[in-house]
Amino acid sequence: MGELICTVCNQTYSLNDPRWRCECGSILDIAFTPIFDMGRIAGRKPTMWRYREAIPVGRDADIVSFDEGFTPLLEVRFRDFPVLIKQDHLFPSASYKDRGASVLISKVKELGIKSVVEDSSGNAGCAIAAYCARAGIRCEIFVPEDTSPAKLAQIRLYNASLKLIPGSREDTAEAVLASAEKGYYASHSWNPFFFQGTKTFAYEVCEQLGWKSPDTIILPAGNGTLVLGAFIGFTELRDAGVIDKIPKIIVVQSENCAPLYTAFHIGLRDVPPVEKGDTLAEGIAIADPIRGEQILKVVRETDGDFITVSDDEVMNSLRELGRGGFCIEPTSAATTAGIGKYIERIQSSEVIVSVFTGHGLKSTEKIGKIMK
Ligand SMILES: Cc1ncc(COP(=O)(O)O)c(C=O)c1O
Ligand SMILES: [Zn+2]
Repeated sequence: MGELICTVCNQTYSLNDPRWRCECGSILDIAFTPIFDMGRIAGRKPTMWRYREAIPVGRDADIVSFDEGFTPLLEVRFRDFPVLIKQDHLFPSASYKDRGASVLISKVKELGIKSVVEDSSGNAGCAIAAYCARAGIRCEIFVPEDTSPAKLAQIRLYNASLKLIPGSREDTAEAVLASAEKGYYASHSWNPFFFQGTKTFAYEVCEQLGWKSPDTIILPAGNGTLVLGAFIGFTELRDAGVIDKIPKIIVVQSENCAPLYTAFHIGLRDVPPVEKGDTLAEGIAIADPIRGEQILKVVRETDGDFITVSDDEVMNSLRELGRGGFCIEPTSAATTAGIGKYIERIQSSEVIVSVFTGHGLKSTEKIGKIMK
């Protein structure tokens, strides 16, 4: 049922080979044909695992889950324009990263692996730590020293071994690689099983729209785990004949760290790293995204675009959503600021879907300063 395939040299490996990159050092993807049995899907619990035959994990007994997913698709008005927002800040560890962690850690359990390492700006670390705790798998989470205190507390609460790395997010990515040589790297950016979880975002959206595709989706990207996962999901549904089109993908980055936006607008195929400035949107501040080339490709293929937002726009959007009763973290407010900018320039009505990626209670110290 499928195989790992190298994105550069095309070498293939069994899905049961416990590797996270090709022998040539490049990124792996998963070649796999999902099955969508609408009757069975409709009869199951409202969780992301209702698409069971579309997720490449062998045995049901290995599934690591909190019955997560199938988050509400709620209408929220932006400048009086209706946008459907997936409430992915309501996941068990309070960010959409649980989609990827549930599938990846289920696969880790299936492989019989007893300990993993991961690096993160915070939320992916929280998600991997939560699912490892649920599965009884040891994990070591590397994060930058200046990660939000609530995220650090959450990782500790899940009993993970926390490694605080001085310097930048890139220094953290560098530091984890030595451990990844020895242990299994449950990386949200390298490991292709993570994207087999984030793809359920697309399945849920289409099912909630009556098995139809929206016209446009607006998503954030640092490493692009939601953008690439959503693209996989929509493509699989289109190839299976369930929907007839893949939506246009609009990607939001912070203007202080926008390597994808920059490469896209000057027409490059790959993504040179950038110097990163300070930004409130800590979760998407990735100066050197590993899957950058893939992200550019899918956005171009869907006739999409990149938008950047400033910290002032993030703060305004965060406050506005708060006044409407929503508590999201500043990184998540970067996406909502991007929605406002996108809506200003559209000519006709479109069905737009976006997402709240992370809960505000993960960032109370930043929100406290913004609201002073
Ligand atoms: C709240 C939130 N939104 C969006 C993202 C962006 O995810 P990615 O880097 O996979 O594009 C992150 C990543 O940590 C996040 O924490
Ligand atoms: Zn290779």
